Amino acid sequence: MGVVVNRELRTENYLLALESSCDETAAAVCDLAGNLKASRIASQIEIHRQYGGVVPEVASRNHILHVRSLVEEVLAEAGITLKDVAAFAATSGPGLVSSLLIGTSMAKALAVAEGKPFLAVNHMEGHLLSPFMGSNGPVRPCVGLIVSGGHTMLVHVKSIGQYELLGRTRDDAAGEAFDKVAKMIGLPYPGGPEIDKLAAKGDPTALDFPRSFLDGKSLEFSFSGLKTAVLYELPRLDLKNEQTLADVCASVQAAIVEVLVEKLVLAAQRTKNRTVAVSGGVSCNRGLRAALKARCEKAGLELLLAEPALCTDNAGMIAFAAAQRFKLGQSSPLEAEVDPNLPLVVPRASIA
Ligand code: KG4
Ligand code: ZN
Repeated sequence: MGVVVNRELRTENYLLALESSCDETAAAVCDLAGNLKASRIASQIEIHRQYGGVVPEVASRNHILHVRSLVEEVLAEAGITLKDVAAFAATSGPGLVSSLLIGTSMAKALAVAEGKPFLAVNHMEGHLLSPFMGSNGPVRPCVGLIVSGGHTMLVHVKSIGQYELLGRTRDDAAGEAFDKVAKMIGLPYPGGPEIDKLAAKGDPTALDFPRSFLDGKSLEFSFSGLKTAVLYELPRLDLKNEQTLADVCASVQAAIVEVLVEKLVLAAQRTKNRTVAVSGGVSCNRGLRAALKARCEKAGLELLLAEPALCTDNAGMIAFAAAQRFKLGQSSPLEAEVDPNLPLVVPRASIA
């Protein structure tokens, strides 16, 4: 006779997810519908700031130091124990291999110990679906714009796992452009939030920086020309002057924001989508959020943005993406490898 499970008595109603793809160690718990119950992040920003960027070995060593206590903290915050967890998830790529291994090894170990499934989650899918968290759900067809430190892409979301790439950057990602320009003008790492802060006091029309491929046709991005333009401008600028520095920040931000907003609207019009969802660390940017709101209202588009704490790397978005997959009956083998270049969308040409 088979085992009869009394659904009333089942307590395995939660997912526990870990994120360790770069320099943030994070853990989160959500229920099976994807509602976030607890989310914690141990940030390493202060540690890596002294090097001007992320040092992979330092990052992985610090993930090891924090991952176990973060798991205990989110279980306590959610008011549950490991017995209440139905599946364990972790980011398996893209990211730094030595960092990815910490989160996935921990999640797999917990899954084995508890006899529960493991789910390997694509970090970019975590970002892509994050604007649907909370009251913005359920996940529905839209054009997603992911703007992070390593990626800038426009994705047509048809349903969970059905993603079509509409356009991506040919060189630097938007976050990378913010960070590299910030470094050039003497601001600390990570530069995006620093430029955001200073831009609020500057004149966005002070300097005219290039807006690549803004021809109303292409959905591709390029931000390397902006970096070069700032470099050529540097000898003429007195960056010790607070107003000049703020003007440079505002002008750089305006150039990046305009391209992102216009291409998103173009992609929505082309694919006949009324909903757009913007995610990734750069979607915290206040100039971008304000411009998106104004432009989407004008174009009659429904704009979904994650709350700022869920825009930068966190495990809440990984738990949410895992919940969507788990609902569909999906899980991953324990042999699932980490992949530093894990694609979100497999290009048509490479499908056998
Ligand atoms: O998504 P994320 O946390 O990590 C990656 O997956 O890359 O994105 C990090 C990027 C960094 O380049 C950082 O400078 C940028 O997001 N960022 C911002 C802001 N907050 C974070 N860029 C512009 N304005 C911000 N407020
Ligand atoms: Zn990210």
